[in-house]
Amino acid sequence: QHSIVIAGGGSTYTPEIVLMLLDNLDKFPIRQLKLYDNDPERQSIIAKACEIIIKEQAPHIEFVATDSPEAGFTDVDFVMAHIRVGKYEMREKDEKVPLKYNVIGQETCGPGGMAYGLRSIKGVVEIIDYMEMYSPNAWMLNYSNPASIVAEACRKLRPDSKVLNICDHPIGLEDRMAKIVGLESRKDLSIRYYGLNHFGWYTDVQDKNGNDLMPQIKSYIGENGFNLNAIGKESRNSDPSWIHTYDMAKFVYELDPDTIPNTYLKYYLFPNKEVEIADANYTRANEVIDGREKRVFGECRNIIEKGTSKGTTLEIGAHATYIVDLACALSYNTHERMLIMVENNGAISNFDATAMVEIPCLVGSKGAEPLSIGPIPTFQKGLMEQQVAVEKLAVEAYTEGSKQKLYQAFALSKTIPGADIAKKLLDELIEANKDYWPTL
Ligand code: G6P
Repeated sequence: QHSIVIAGGGSTYTPEIVLMLLDNLDKFPIRQLKLYDNDPERQSIIAKACEIIIKEQAPHIEFVATDSPEAGFTDVDFVMAHIRVGKYEMREKDEKVPLKYNVIGQETCGPGGMAYGLRSIKGVVEIIDYMEMYSPNAWMLNYSNPASIVAEACRKLRPDSKVLNICDHPIGLEDRMAKIVGLESRKDLSIRYYGLNHFGWYTDVQDKNGNDLMPQIKSYIGENGFNLNAIGKESRNSDPSWIHTYDMAKFVYELDPDTIPNTYLKYYLFPNKEVEIADANYTRANEVIDGREKRVFGECRNIIEKGTSKGTTLEIGAHATYIVDLACALSYNTHERMLIMVENNGAISNFDATAMVEIPCLVGSKGAEPLSIGPIPTFQKGLMEQQVAVEKLAVEAYTEGSKQKLYQAFALSKTIPGADIAKKLLDELIEANKDYWPTL
């Protein structure tokens, strides 16, 4: 029986993760579930609704919602962290400030990603420290964004901590690939993949019998990207921005038809196109504020008012089952093969040993054991080297309080067309983030 704290309890992802945990109790029993957030007001609505859900579905679980680190992090085996430092107000700036300069506005890629990264590091490290102070044997399953910069910061600042950095994006793509070939879920596939977070390539996809599924998936992606409309399986709830992203994968794919790309590569390979279709006054942050934020808070208020979750429209976060898989792998030493961000350390043989790469690992009670990838081709290596340097410079800028290094990171990013623009953008983002960044 496990005890868990969800850090970032006020996130609108929390209810779907709670529902997913409740749905998996046979696999992963829970005795105590806590929500921790440093914004108790935001968390309280989510927490009250979660409390009602838990009372109805699993009354044996002790439920706690708190803004006290001691109460939140004492007596836990797992910290599930999905924090958003600066909330949507700052995400909006991450997206809108770069667009003023015709540079992509995105929360994990490019200048917006770096801005968010410099805000997140402190929050993530704080949570690691709370965990180590109050539950030194616990594991932190971290899926806070921007995951690549956060992972590099963990490597650099807390190298010995029990933290696993993982991302849901490949999970979503694998579910899409399974649908493309008529299989039930990603669990029916076995894949090979390498890269950085939001920056990688599938090199092999097989079914469980070892049949090669790459030809069928590649011919689909070449025509439709990851968009499932052609087979009538696109979710009715997919937002227009995601549909565009799935479509764009067909152009990214053209650059290396031997592999299947992560959709986020579009920001690095087609930045002009992304700027062209963006609405600088209404970005993804606005879409989420008007969509998921209103929907989830509205439904939580509904549950609180009615005093029951019967008939709720809140859904189980099915794609989030990787978090349970990861927790099970650590608890029960399953050695499940999962994509984790780990220090390269020779796994990609012709790549920086200290880079945080996203590669398949076997996960057991001692953590993640990376599998060997071997050498990667020049195209991917070149892109990844540039991007790793950007991420490392961003983290160094944070630890050293160095504006110079952040200027270099901006100038080096493939998403920013020149150092002159990098400089202006940097000055504006320093101002926008003055309440969050260290003094540069
Ligand atoms: C994907 C990515 C996450 C990211 C999310 C953004 O799932 O892997 O890293 O947080 O998309 O989604 P949103 O709906 O907030 O734009």
